[in-house]
Amino acid sequence: MTAATGSREVFATRAGFLLAAAGSAVGLGNMWRFPYLASENGGAAFVLVYVVLTLVLGIPLMLAEFGVGRRGQRAPIGSLRKLGGRGWGALGYLFVGVGGLILAYYSVIAGWTLRYGLEAVFVGFAPSSADHFAAVSSGVDAVAFHVAFMAATVLIVVVGVKGGIERASLLMMPLLFLLLAALALWAATLEDAGTGYVVYLKPRFEQVLNPDVWRAAASQAFFSLSLGMGGMLTYASYLKRDQNLPESATAIAFTDFSVAFIAGLLVFPVIYSFGLQDAVSASTIGALFIAVPSAFESMGPLGRVVGFVFFLVLALGAITSTISLLEVVTASVMDEFGASRRKAALWAGTVVTLLGVVPALDTDALGLLDKIVGEFLLLAGGLILALFAGWRLRGPVREELLAGASPFWQRQLRWILMVLRFVVPVIVAIVLVFSLGGTAAAVRSFFAG
Ligand code: PHE
Repeated sequence: MTAATGSREVFATRAGFLLAAAGSAVGLGNMWRFPYLASENGGAAFVLVYVVLTLVLGIPLMLAEFGVGRRGQRAPIGSLRKLGGRGWGALGYLFVGVGGLILAYYSVIAGWTLRYGLEAVFVGFAPSSADHFAAVSSGVDAVAFHVAFMAATVLIVVVGVKGGIERASLLMMPLLFLLLAALALWAATLEDAGTGYVVYLKPRFEQVLNPDVWRAAASQAFFSLSLGMGGMLTYASYLKRDQNLPESATAIAFTDFSVAFIAGLLVFPVIYSFGLQDAVSASTIGALFIAVPSAFESMGPLGRVVGFVFFLVLALGAITSTISLLEVVTASVMDEFGASRRKAALWAGTVVTLLGVVPALDTDALGLLDKIVGEFLLLAGGLILALFAGWRLRGPVREELLAGASPFWQRQLRWILMVLRFVVPVIVAIVLVFSLGGTAAAVRSFFAG
């Protein structure tokens, strides 16, 4: 071990790492994208496909990131270069760039959750929620809340791995689970909850044969599990060798899926009990920021309380994700330039905040960025990592993953690594090829106006 690795920050507790990584995974993707995608793509059939892909792609890829990160003891650029040479190191820049890009628009959406939460407390929800959303989702207001959310993120990251990221996660994640469960129970008492469940989950099993459903589920799995941009890699670089990585990856994937699934059990009863289905089909974001708030508005004072809790849950999910995104960029700046954490976080935070002004002023740009990230960049990053961990660095990654694993998980690793080598690259490459056309068309139509 070199002096540098000896002095690297570490997570103080195993639970701290688990909740930080789960915090990265659980976020707006679970609550905003998953329920919507499920209802659009075959209900329970989508859920089934999603679970299969979480097992087949998600867990092996998360282990690839964990193995490379803990082995390399550096952020993506440093770890790939140290373990694989200069060429691989250059690919590390892709991860850092993608992390910054996601953070730039994700923080804008997170800013909306902050705004709606504060509105619930101080002024109540607007009577015409669609008009209200149109008014505040872009422009000066959106920029202001984006800046506020970025500032909060920087504050946590500046403090460091143990005192900032770990402490925030240990505090916020249990709170999030508790409040989400309470909200889902409340939703079950609504008059038309049953209709909502049916629309969300009614199995249209013929959809299992639809390649588009698989494509949507694959890109959702990447986004939701924070894979393909080095976030999990970076967190794992702060681990000692006693963490049971295969077990951790499985627990994190399970937690992430559970939160997404429960979010659907919350959102759909609300939408159907208040007759808001039209607002949902209007836009993907519609469900969360138009339909749900208008339900709260019609509930009177109780709606303000429930609505506050709802947007608090979203904001908690969002901030434990934004800190992981900023940490990738911050840690890379620290590694590459020898900068202090404080300088690196402030510098990275400022650049990303400026970048985020574009999606904060233009929701179409935000949608486009989300599409490019979700359907292309994360998949490309995942493919690179699968090839790196499964082929280029096969032996060391295997050894790294065995260290700290219980005998049971050591046995499972055999086939998980087989899947990582032979199945993951093939599926991801196929999905990538099929996504390319749609992504390119979206870019073209955006610039054609
Ligand atoms: N996983 C987060 C979510 O579902 C988003 C995210 C993606 C965070 C990629 C980090 C990296 O909201």
